Amino acid sequence: MALFKLLVNGRSYQADVDPDTPLLWVLRDHFGLVGTKYGCGIAQCGACSVHLNGEATRSCVLPVSVVGKSKVTTIEGLSSDGTHPVQLAWDKIDVPQCGYCQAGQIMTAAALLKRNPKPTEAEIDETMTGNLCRCGTYHRIREAVKVAADHSVSGSSKTPKTK
Ligand code: FES
Repeated sequence: MALFKLLVNGRSYQADVDPDTPLLWVLRDHFGLVGTKYGCGIAQCGACSVHLNGEATRSCVLPVSVVGKSKVTTIEGLSSDGTHPVQLAWDKIDVPQCGYCQAGQIMTAAALLKRNPKPTEAEIDETMTGNLCRCGTYHRIREAVKVAADHSVSGSSKTPKTK
């Protein structure tokens, strides 16, 4: 066991855990941030996606010991009030079905739009293809990313707030 201090959603947290513990379980079991989901445990489905310094990252295979001073953002920290452009678009298009995969979908989409504010449909598909949805909401996900991109470009490209 070792003590790890992490910066998550703009707040400092610490956990006394085995260095190999995946970030996902530290977030969920030690910090109470349960919006990030366990899907496959082998980085193949994307349900556990969080941001590490703004990049979408699979937290189920990332040992807490390698996080260091990186800024971690979870779905809870994407915005303080659910008004990140991607969250608004998801609501407008009514994307989720069962909802299990959606935090990961939203975090991947938000990271895409941060690095590429106006992606083509092919670029959206290329990025989002790594996030699986057992309910098959892929068409709505694609539409929502387009809506979010339009929203961002039309003047609300504010950076996501963190708690
Ligand atoms: Fe059910 Fe994606 S909405 S798995």
